[in-house]
Amino acid sequence: MKQFRTLIVCDSPHHGNTRKVADALAEEFPEITVMTINEARAASLKEYDLVGLASGIYYGSFSKPLLAYAETLPRGTAVFTLYTYGIKRDGYVNRLHEILRTRGCRIIGSYGCPGYDTFGPLKLVGGISKDHPNATDIRLAASFYEHLKK
Ligand SMILES: Cc1cc2nc3c(=O)[nH]c(=O)nc-3n(C[C@H](O)[C@H](O)[C@H](O)COP(=O)(O)O)c2cc1C
Repeated sequence: MKQFRTLIVCDSPHHGNTRKVADALAEEFPEITVMTINEARAASLKEYDLVGLASGIYYGSFSKPLLAYAETLPRGTAVFTLYTYGIKRDGYVNRLHEILRTRGCRIIGSYGCPGYDTFGPLKLVGGISKDHPNATDIRLAASFYEHLKK
């Protein structure tokens, strides 16, 4: 029987916060492979049953390269979205999910948690969401992923 496989495509330029969550998931669930966007563009999606799109939040949305990558996904792809942010707020997923819906992808869930943020003036005060993602953020991400597959 073919093994279930998941690809997480991750763009994490600020502090590697989102990559930390993605890598922790890959460590816990052997069916997960994590790739950068460039690596994913060179790979075949046919090998994967589920695709995770992961990035930090920049100016209220997922990263521009990740939004552009989402535009290339084939119709019917099962997708979950994963993100880290400095300040919790509604709507960070809206733009990405709109792209995915327009492309006919199936959005099966989304998980977000805080990530260390030193953007702009925040640097002067030592940043916010320090020490995130932490062990609890990662445990919740693992439980989110586990429930997705059920
Ligand atoms: C240019 C820039 C813009 C950002 N905009 C937001 C924002 O709109 N909302 C927010 O909560 N965090 C914002 N952040 C903080 C990041 O989302 C947060 O630090 C995230 O964990 C970065 O993920 P990464 O390390 O995986 O790149 C911004 C950070 C940068 C560098």
